Amino acid sequence: MIQLKVNGVPRKFEGDPEMPLLWYLRDVLQLTGTKFGCAMGLCGACTIHVDGVAERSCLQPIGKSAGKAITTIEGLSEHGDHPLQVAWKEANVPQCGYCQGGQIMQAASLLKQHPKPSDEQIDAGMEGNICRCGTYQRIRKAIKSAAGVKA
Ligand code: FES
Ligand code: FES
Repeated sequence: MIQLKVNGVPRKFEGDPEMPLLWYLRDVLQLTGTKFGCAMGLCGACTIHVDGVAERSCLQPIGKSAGKAITTIEGLSEHGDHPLQVAWKEANVPQCGYCQGGQIMQAASLLKQHPKPSDEQIDAGMEGNICRCGTYQRIRKAIKSAAGVKA
């Protein structure tokens, strides 16, 4: 049996330990804010935090999540008021929205590592998160705004 925490709630899973964590989050827990994109670690739509660090949940077998604290976009803040979520709204970042949960989770991990990120650090931190709508400029603006860095 695999025991883990998801958004602060202790969970148990008795199925296949090779099942991707993404499947567990979406299909078992119905946490559908984490999106299925490529299932190959190439798009970032499925980004969650494992013990506070951004990971691709499509690549992570649930067995590797044993004993870990998983955070999804639903658990990033209690009322959707994480500084990044506020900045995202102010900058009107999303277009279709599909990639945005993953973008915010990646950005939250970036800001933990670099609270006042430079352009280069934003580029390096966010490069694996693809937005087919091309919202990259607004994403950058929102990250800087949340970090209190001049745009
Ligand atoms: S669905 Fe995980 S990186 Fe694309
Ligand atoms: S907002 Fe549409 S894919 Fe990013």
